[in-house]
Amino acid sequence: MDHFQLRNGAIWCEDVPLETIAAEAGTPVYIYSTATIRRHARAMCYALREFDDPLVAFAIKANPNRSVLRILSDAGLGADIVSIGEYRRAIEAQISPDRIVFSGVGKTADEMKEALLGGVLQFNLESVQEAETLAQIAQSVGRTAPIAFRINPNVSVETHAKITTGTLDNKFGIPAAEAISAYRSAATLPGLDMTGVAVHIGSQLTSLEPFADAFERLGQIIVDLRREGADIRIADLGGGLGVPYHRGQPNPPTPAEYGRMVRAVTAEWNVRLVFEPGRLIVANAGVLLSRVIRLKPGAKHNWIIVDAAMNDLMRPALYDAYHAIEAVRPSGRITTANVVGPVCESGDTFAIAREMDEVAVDDLVIFRTAGAYGAAMSSCYNSRPLTPEVLVEGSDWRLIRRRVDLSELAES
Ligand code: LLP
Repeated sequence: MDHFQLRNGAIWCEDVPLETIAAEAGTPVYIYSTATIRRHARAMCYALREFDDPLVAFAIKANPNRSVLRILSDAGLGADIVSIGEYRRAIEAQISPDRIVFSGVGKTADEMKEALLGGVLQFNLESVQEAETLAQIAQSVGRTAPIAFRINPNVSVETHAKITTGTLDNKFGIPAAEAISAYRSAATLPGLDMTGVAVHIGSQLTSLEPFADAFERLGQIIVDLRREGADIRIADLGGGLGVPYHRGQPNPPTPAEYGRMVRAVTAEWNVRLVFEPGRLIVANAGVLLSRVIRLKPGAKHNWIIVDAAMNDLMRPALYDAYHAIEAVRPSGRITTANVVGPVCESGDTFAIAREMDEVAVDDLVIFRTAGAYGAAMSSCYNSRPLTPEVLVEGSDWRLIRRRVDLSELAES
């Protein structure tokens, strides 16, 4: 459920007509609903309420806007970070350091040092080599670093190959079979406290089985590590739960169903659970609002050329991702068309042969489910300024990333 709904013939976000935002802020522009963000954060926390002090650490990479982070921080979420830039954003959003987990396969020594001095719940390490670097840093600053090893459970998942992370063909984690020897190596290093284990198998997963498989393997590793004498107190189960992109297709499992599966698998673990949802919290809380520049006749279908492009929303070009496209003021007439942006490559295609609302030049359209990995992945390709972002709350709205002036882009 989201707060982008038709009212008096046009789509509103909460109590603001999108047409008002387009008129005042211009297009293309990302628009987020505070109510939807809060609702999704609450739904996830509610689904996990029966666990003992669970930590829901929002994966900042999905949407790093500081105003969005502030909403999530106020809702009690922590942060999953993968760079020192994300760390600083989390701290600035007043997320307490002991609610931050530091993931990522290539943390630099400088990044580890800053996070160690500032504080984190744990570093999710991905190799013994990384543990060695962190141990040196910990010793040099006289601190103990809380660590987990991210385990690669080698489970395959049904999602786009570029967002699978939990198989041995991926760069991530320590193969499950090497977990014990990695732990033994880390135990010989000074300055490290092995507090936990972690896993993250991929993103936009639409069934619970691969999660359950991976978590069961992790449960066995916890048993084995404890047998070695490790004091495992935290199990970080990662993110990855999918969201509905296609209206009319079966919905992915709900947070409540996910919570029940986790409860069944982890019943005997006796650890604090950490979760790292990103997309689930913000995807359907955001749309990309765009204006039709031109209609161009095509060989099979007409081209609808909009003022948003692959630099604004990269997911269709990169993953062949589907985003629902709707007219902000639908006439009720349906057409079949190709929707593209102005960037000079054929990959700048949002949809081919899409059955959708008929639109005319200057009409507004939205790309739905764009709140996650949308603005976060935008760029200035083709010397197009970064897409601005707007946050709506009730009948108020404000720019939370301003539109960069072209003269600023021209400086380099
Ligand atoms: N934790 C770790 C260690 C991750 O690598 C990720 C996402 C998450 C949590 C959050 O996963 P989520 O709950 O959002 O599925 N750009 C791609 C998605 C890349 C995901 C990368 N890692 C997309 O637009 O689909």
